[in-house]
Amino acid sequence: MSVDVAAIRAQFPIFAAQDRPFHYLDNAATGQICAAAADALLRYETTARANVKRGVYRLADAATTAFAEARAAIAAYLGAAAPDEVLLGCGATFALNLIAHALAPRLAPGDAILVSELEHHSNIVPWQMVAAARGAVVRAIPVTEEGRLDLDRLDEVLGARTRIVAVTHASNVTGAVTDVARLRAAADTVGALLVLDGAQRAPHGPVDVRALGCDAYACSAHKMFGATGAGALWVRGDLLADLPPFLGGGEMIRRVTIERTSYAPPPHRFEAGTPPIGAVLAMGAAARWLAAQDWTALAGHELRLTERLLSGLAREPRVRVIGPTGLQGRLGVVAFAVAGVHAHDVCQMLDDFGVALRGGHHCAQPLMDRFDVAATARASFAPYNDTADVDALLDGLAQTIRKLA
Ligand code: ALA
Repeated sequence: MSVDVAAIRAQFPIFAAQDRPFHYLDNAATGQICAAAADALLRYETTARANVKRGVYRLADAATTAFAEARAAIAAYLGAAAPDEVLLGCGATFALNLIAHALAPRLAPGDAILVSELEHHSNIVPWQMVAAARGAVVRAIPVTEEGRLDLDRLDEVLGARTRIVAVTHASNVTGAVTDVARLRAAADTVGALLVLDGAQRAPHGPVDVRALGCDAYACSAHKMFGATGAGALWVRGDLLADLPPFLGGGEMIRRVTIERTSYAPPPHRFEAGTPPIGAVLAMGAAARWLAAQDWTALAGHELRLTERLLSGLAREPRVRVIGPTGLQGRLGVVAFAVAGVHAHDVCQMLDDFGVALRGGHHCAQPLMDRFDVAATARASFAPYNDTADVDALLDGLAQTIRKLA
């Protein structure tokens, strides 16, 4: 099924603002904002700005209603049973810290948290912090040569003391999509909770948290074609009802005295202080935009671009792809190393061709260690990319290799 890329690009203001070749392939770091989200942000900040959940005057009431509507749109996109299962904050990193700290009191000395070698640091460091505070240990699911979770080796790391399994839904480096059903079944054998980092997967079509069977799911607005500064954490309702707050402050309380505080019910208990209102409204608009797309066609489109890139990279003897070289169970995220050329030099040279890639360790140093590389370049696709973007990358890379390698 073909995709009208020009029609999609017309909905992203960045493309009209370029005066040189622009091949934006750093979508795993941040997606471009769609016009619907940019409009929602600007409209709120310039015509409808008031704090939420506090004022009784009309402007404040309208802002509170818009905030609730954004929560409902994000909840619908994630497949939540109810909007109040979705906690709104400043990003996926915040969301993962929130769930780690809220689950911390459930950990006893000797308990284990299972992450993986595939994780972004945001899904490792918060767990290390709570493990250190509670005397628990962090273990990691190994990664296969193909850059996937090695679920055949789960028995080596999952044990009776594993209380939490926290893994990515899709890797920000290899693009591999996690077999959540298998992980859920394994976690159930020891009664562990399953937390998914959905930062990379959520921008590629609706999520169904209930079908996935996870207990918590984190995602990030700016990767979902919203603004920077917002993100969401979904938590299964009955679990959420029992969790303590992460941050204390305004609007998360029922009653405060100098001696003690009783807390508001979810979601407010987890939303201390003024939230990133404009960014949340933009996230709501982005979720509506995402939900309205034909994801069968777009997933096919992104995979065709991935295939074109992988075949081109395979023709370069100096290039090593870190991740699956087939199209099964993966997103359009492709990391590669060039023998004899640092990833930063590759990315800098490609910038001269108008190609934007991320180069570095991608906040995944354990994965770099696993593959014995210091850094890689990485291309990552979004619906507005097309074959010209892939070809510009491959042409620029061939010239870069001729010059530097
Ligand atoms: N997590 C983002 C990335 O992978 C920033 O680039």
